[in-house]
Amino acid sequence: MKRTRMLTLLAALAAGACSSSGPSGLEPPSGDNSTGDPDNTTSGNPTTSGDPEAPPIPDKTVLDDRVTSYTEALRTASLKLVRNLPTLQQIKNVETATDQRAAYEAEIDTLLADQRFTSRMIKWWRDTMRQGGGAQDNKPSRDTAPVFATRVMIEEKPYTDLFTASTNTCPTYDGGTNTFNDGNCDNGVPTHAGVLTNPGVMMQFYGNMAFRRVRWVQEVFVCTKFPAEYAAEPRQVNGADYTGPWPFESVGTAPINFQDTSSVVCANCHVTLNRVAPLFANFNMNGQWMNDSQVETPTVPDPQKTVISHWLRNGESTAWRFGEPVADLPALGQAMAADTDVHDCAVARMYNFAMSKEDIVSDLATVPPAVLKPYVEEFLANGMNLKKTLRTILLSEDFTKF
Ligand code: HEC
Repeated sequence: MKRTRMLTLLAALAAGACSSSGPSGLEPPSGDNSTGDPDNTTSGNPTTSGDPEAPPIPDKTVLDDRVTSYTEALRTASLKLVRNLPTLQQIKNVETATDQRAAYEAEIDTLLADQRFTSRMIKWWRDTMRQGGGAQDNKPSRDTAPVFATRVMIEEKPYTDLFTASTNTCPTYDGGTNTFNDGNCDNGVPTHAGVLTNPGVMMQFYGNMAFRRVRWVQEVFVCTKFPAEYAAEPRQVNGADYTGPWPFESVGTAPINFQDTSSVVCANCHVTLNRVAPLFANFNMNGQWMNDSQVETPTVPDPQKTVISHWLRNGESTAWRFGEPVADLPALGQAMAADTDVHDCAVARMYNFAMSKEDIVSDLATVPPAVLKPYVEEFLANGMNLKKTLRTILLSEDFTKF
């Protein structure tokens, strides 16, 4: 009980329930909450029972005063999922139901099946992936990755398809008929790996030494900036703290010295970055896969074509994380699909969507692990069905109490 209350407290804090506007930005229900569910009177005020002289229960907080309102939750959910208020009929369906929760659940299911929700998710994935726009001037579409991610979600496929699917990773969406059309990416990749081989993404995040592509993967799917991994204890190198888990000396020193410690410790980030980047190097600036490295090392006066020794010392191999070598992008996809940080990130992004939070990386809208835990557990148990997890969030106390 205590633990539940603590989780609720944390959840409410994360949801901004302490602020005047509440998680939705809508007005909280008025004092005489005639539309709320019958639980309100009991769950909202534990001090009314028992001795009237007794002091207040010490661990009661302002959050315990929140009341459930399925009609308010419906308004909020509808604005988020389909960008429109519910109709009067939808509101009445919940308001007048003998079982308000069941009626609310039914309305949520209708919203999640609404075509406008599909459009909303395409937009959301575009924002999340910083990617969008049709094909032009012989350049690939930057919509195929967001559309693919939306399709995985709408069709309730495992989220890990985003990294492991080898076919139909460049689908299109026809808003007129509300259908996804199959489509393989045609950028010459030997074996596709979800969005990791997407031509639009590879074009958009083209950059020196392929580092920007790795940053994209890290920030969008792990929800943190570099450095991506840490040793249990930092190690002193030239008087500076080296925090990476790999041997410091494992990164390249020429033509760029990643073992430099004179200003920042490059290796803190680059021991990981330099092990992933070579996997993305063969995509050219238009996102087409070629037979050799297409990226450059920014040397002056003239940049050089990046070769493996620029990233890593001789004998080192590519990897996702310490102890997790990966030889190519499909292997990277498998490693990411098994990474708990990737799972947590997916759920955190859904939670933030439901609560109208800003971006988890660029705006530091992080979610406390305790808040996320039940949803992550549900996500893992439901076959990594992100739509189901969103549904669970929309039905939770975090969402339905004000
Ligand atoms: C805090 C993590 C971090 C540290 C420390 C760091 N880097 Fe990077 N570095 C990155 C990331 C992330 C990128 C990709 C940035 C992007 O393109 O958006 C990058 C990009 C680069 C690039 C390509 C830049 C370009 O022209 O596009 C070079 C070269 C580079 N780093 C070298 C270094 C060197 C040398 C050091 C140490 C002096 C260093 N980095 C320290 C994270 C780091």
